[in-house]
Amino acid sequence: MRIAIAGAGDLAKYLVEELLAASHEVVVLSRSLKPWFERPDISFRPTDYSVPSLAAALEDCDGLVSALLDYTLGSVTSHLALLEACQKSPKCKRFMPSEYGGNVDLYPESPEFYYANHEPVREALRAQKDVMWTLFNMGWLADYFVSPGSRYIKDIGDFHPVDFEAGVITIPGTGEELISFTAARDTAAAIARLIDQDDWEATTFVCGETTTWNRVAKLLADHGRDMEVRYVSLESLRDTIKQGQLGDDDVTAAQYAEFSLTGGAILPRKN
Ligand SMILES: NC(=O)c1ccc[n+]([C@@H]2O[C@H](COP(=O)([O-])OP(=O)(O)OC[C@H]3O[C@@H](n4cnc5c(N)ncnc54)[C@H](OP(=O)(O)O)[C@@H]3O)[C@@H](O)[C@H]2O)c1
Repeated sequence: MRIAIAGAGDLAKYLVEELLAASHEVVVLSRSLKPWFERPDISFRPTDYSVPSLAAALEDCDGLVSALLDYTLGSVTSHLALLEACQKSPKCKRFMPSEYGGNVDLYPESPEFYYANHEPVREALRAQKDVMWTLFNMGWLADYFVSPGSRYIKDIGDFHPVDFEAGVITIPGTGEELISFTAARDTAAAIARLIDQDDWEATTFVCGETTTWNRVAKLLADHGRDMEVRYVSLESLRDTIKQGQLGDDDVTAAQYAEFSLTGGAILPRKN
């Protein structure tokens, strides 16, 4: 199949490699040229995210995987344009929007800042039948446990508990709460396997391992990462959220940490 990826970012690099490895043809949609994506084995297509420009770029594609990351409502605008472009296209009738979070079935509002810029896209997908879709989720990426030089995924600073630079891991809660983790490469490989299947469910969960932040800290220590371990309580996180404004970095960081404590980061398993 010819599969388009929207957004030439970090996760998109794994998607390019795994879609090619699964013998798909790969098209990358982007608002600007990016050196890593200048390669002969993919088709790089600039777009301004207007529906006509996207529809033209998707004309010969069979499926679309979004790897956009925009914390603002701009994410909704771009995703609704992607969906409309799929609807207008002759054959691009399978679409995975950018979700990549936790258990959206039970916790659609976790992490909290995800709701406003994801829910309208979920609603638009549910309200139509001509494009097949699934909300793909894999919990926290496990990539943050290795050095930045060994992964495409960039550091996200205080948005993640592990800070190699400061030598500190700041664990939300007691550290005994369960969290699901998956490697970005496994995520991309799973998408590459799923993309040509015809029986998508409304949500797809893929999970490497469900464990705890305390066990992550021990794993890092066992591999020579001697980090100071600190704990931050749910009450303290909620105070930060209450006192700040939605979209402030410290509020987003607190909402990411809260995600580890509300159950939203535990992916369901089929028995
Ligand atoms: N669960 C986890 O642990 C985890 C970790 C990391 C990422 N993720 C998720 O994975 C997805 C991709 O993240 P990433 O780390 O690969 O992000 P990234 O490296 O920042 O790339 C995102 C790309 O989105 C595009 N973009 C940004 N704003 C846009 C807009 N308004 N309209 C259209 N395109 C826009 C840009 O591509 P162009 O400039 O090429 O247009 C950008 O390169 C996101 O959903 C993110 O939340 C999850």
